[in-house]
Amino acid sequence: MAEEVIGLRNVSVRYGDMPVLEDVSLSIYQHDFLGIIGPNGGGKTTLLKVILGLVKPDKGEVRVFGGDPLQNRRYIGYVPQYSLFDHSFPISVRDVVLTGRARQALFKRYTDHDRKLARSALEVVGMLAFKERQIGRLSGGQQQRVFIARALAAEPKVLLLDEPAAGIDARVQTEFYELLGRLRQKMAIVMVSHDITAVSVHVSKIACLNRRLYYHDSKELLAEDLEAAYQCPVELIAHGIPHRVLREH
Ligand SMILES: Nc1ncnc2c1ncn2[C@@H]1O[C@H](COP(=O)(O)OP(=O)(O)O)[C@@H](O)[C@H]1O
Ligand SMILES: [Mg+2]
Repeated sequence: MAEEVIGLRNVSVRYGDMPVLEDVSLSIYQHDFLGIIGPNGGGKTTLLKVILGLVKPDKGEVRVFGGDPLQNRRYIGYVPQYSLFDHSFPISVRDVVLTGRARQALFKRYTDHDRKLARSALEVVGMLAFKERQIGRLSGGQQQRVFIARALAAEPKVLLLDEPAAGIDARVQTEFYELLGRLRQKMAIVMVSHDITAVSVHVSKIACLNRRLYYHDSKELLAEDLEAAYQCPVELIAHGIPHRVLREH
């Protein structure tokens, strides 16, 4: 049995009076590549923040590597939905990636080890040749790779990606998913998206989140689950593509 790296049990979250997550249970194992789809406002980003320990559930339990999420935060790499960076800020690709080591280097200078990890993270994502380039002078797809390198520099065991493919064209997206497929050999990946067709081909497991989580421990989603999650007919979501595309092929 693979190690459960993240476990949520009956988790509920509210912002004020508004329930955002309700009774969400979820297990993520080493080498999983879980796609979480769902409508805007469905609670996807909130779910990632719960795993990161940034949002505390009102009810339920969250375990990260068997312990408290904040205590085990160092095992989790996070690429936020919209990068917190000002992309026009004059900072080099290398320095962006080095900030992925900031937690370890707090109040001290980056070490040779930090620089080595930043360099190899850039190599993994195929961006080493751009290390001197200002981040703002890269394409969207290239910037996305740099932000993944930044997360990888911290040597995570789980990578959380919040809508990483938004704004990347189709050809670059394919390369991007291939990169994630390679990374998965070393870690678990959780990718949030509202684009079901893009996600479905590449992930190993898929779940729908619309306040409640509809989850099957496999890629085969049932039409009823999609309908329950989105509250609208599946045809509208899958743009006419039968849900059979979710099966392995
Ligand atoms: N910090 C917050 N305070 C109050 N409401 C929030 C906050 N963050 C998100 N929300 C609300 O919670 C709901 C879920 O948001 P979110 O998790 O960002 O959904 P998604 O990522 O699926 O679009 C939305 O209705 C959003 O407006
Ligand atoms: Mg979101």
